[in-house]
Amino acid sequence: MNNSVSVVIGTQWGDEGKGKIVDLLSSNADYVVRFHGGNNAGHTVIVDGKKYPFHLIPSGILQPKAIGVIANGVILDLEVLVSEIKMLQKDGLKLKGRLFISDRCHIIMPYHKSLDLAYENARGKNKLGTTGRGIGPAYSDKVSYNGIRVYELLAWDLFVEKFTFQAKIKNKILKTFAVSEIDIKKELEKISKYRKVVLPFVTDTFQILTKALESKKNILMEGAHGVMLDIDFSPYPYSTGSNVITGVVNIGAGIPPQKIGKVLGVVKAYTSRVGGGPLPTELYGKLADEIREKGAEFGTTTGRPRRIGWLDLAAVKFAVEVCGVTEIAITKIDILSGLEEIKVCVGYKLNGKSISYSSCGYNELSTLTPVYKTLPGWKEEIAGITKFKDLPKNCQDYIKFIEKFLGAKVSIVSTGPAREEYIRL
Ligand code: GDP
Ligand code: IMO
Ligand code: MG
Repeated sequence: MNNSVSVVIGTQWGDEGKGKIVDLLSSNADYVVRFHGGNNAGHTVIVDGKKYPFHLIPSGILQPKAIGVIANGVILDLEVLVSEIKMLQKDGLKLKGRLFISDRCHIIMPYHKSLDLAYENARGKNKLGTTGRGIGPAYSDKVSYNGIRVYELLAWDLFVEKFTFQAKIKNKILKTFAVSEIDIKKELEKISKYRKVVLPFVTDTFQILTKALESKKNILMEGAHGVMLDIDFSPYPYSTGSNVITGVVNIGAGIPPQKIGKVLGVVKAYTSRVGGGPLPTELYGKLADEIREKGAEFGTTTGRPRRIGWLDLAAVKFAVEVCGVTEIAITKIDILSGLEEIKVCVGYKLNGKSISYSSCGYNELSTLTPVYKTLPGWKEEIAGITKFKDLPKNCQDYIKFIEKFLGAKVSIVSTGPAREEYIRL
């Protein structure tokens, strides 16, 4: 059997450094594929000192051989897509024949963004802290047969009819929230401009990927967000609008599960989260501020300061199990240099009894007590180190501890944001 498909999955609450790892692995990929989520994702790649914050276009596109595919499971904000296409073209990248977008992708409409924000405002102190990118409303329109797919852009008159029908209904809802309604004519003018840029890339991506599988090409699937935000396996509603786990490769791109060989889980050496919801190992005060500053933990998509915590291996172990993770990439280990000691959560206790991540709802996750193992830290700065043997002993032991606890081989350790700052094991 040809298992030429590798999958990269975020094993925490997002922002684990997936973009950096995907770029790295894409040097060996023929295709790199986004298969779920939308521009709530922000994946950073740094090449030759230049920063690329990808939201929709696969992070591997900067590697000369890799062809980027935005498959059917992704929801598309056309404005963001067009600005990303233009950013790359301005940089001299030729995208013709190197970027393919599924005609099955649903479109995030301006009214989805307005509804996302209106719901958040209405929730008041109970707001979820969404990215405000219209993700929940766009996915809910998809499953309630009110979505509009990229396919509809092909026949403009029909698109106008469908958009107008939906926008009029959404305007009624927006009115009940007492927020501005959508200017249908103005929005259609904008969409008609984006359409011209996007349509040349639109195709049946299932055919492209199926042919790639037949000819044994290397396909790299770029997961977004993190398992702790999965719509089913997170403490709902502190979730994102899509499933995040490995199975989405089948749903969001049409790739049969048997074709998956490697599932690489990205694990940040500590924890971060943006938005609301429980975070069992959350840190506050000076230490959290120091890690946030040193790790530049501010959202790639919204610029919000990220909440910080110790590495929660109890949660990550669940991600490894549910995703069938076969290999681990540890990122941002350089940020932990200088700490006297480092804590790692190895289990949870609730009312004196052990409890697993999967048995917890948001109430349990907010009230449980993490069980910590304390490991000695290391003083030396390790940014940019490329050989395992050059890491301080305590840092090596930290990596080995993670590997043993998770029962999956650590194959990459990232020691800085730039492309070349990593160790292969
Ligand atoms: P993603 O959403 O998982 O792709 O992660 P983001 O790009 O949102 O956030 C990760 C941040 O950490 C980005 O600013 C990266 O440039 C940066 N980064 C990635 N790996 C490392 C690393 O090993 N060390 C350091 N210091 N920064 C890293
Ligand atoms: P990447 O791919 C971090 C979080 C939001 C919010 C919740 C719901 O960069 O790792 P949404 O806008 O999706 O409805 O918001 O999900 N969230 C992310 N947090 N990184 C992400 O993506 C995220 N995608 C969604 O902050 O708490
Ligand atoms: Mg991110």
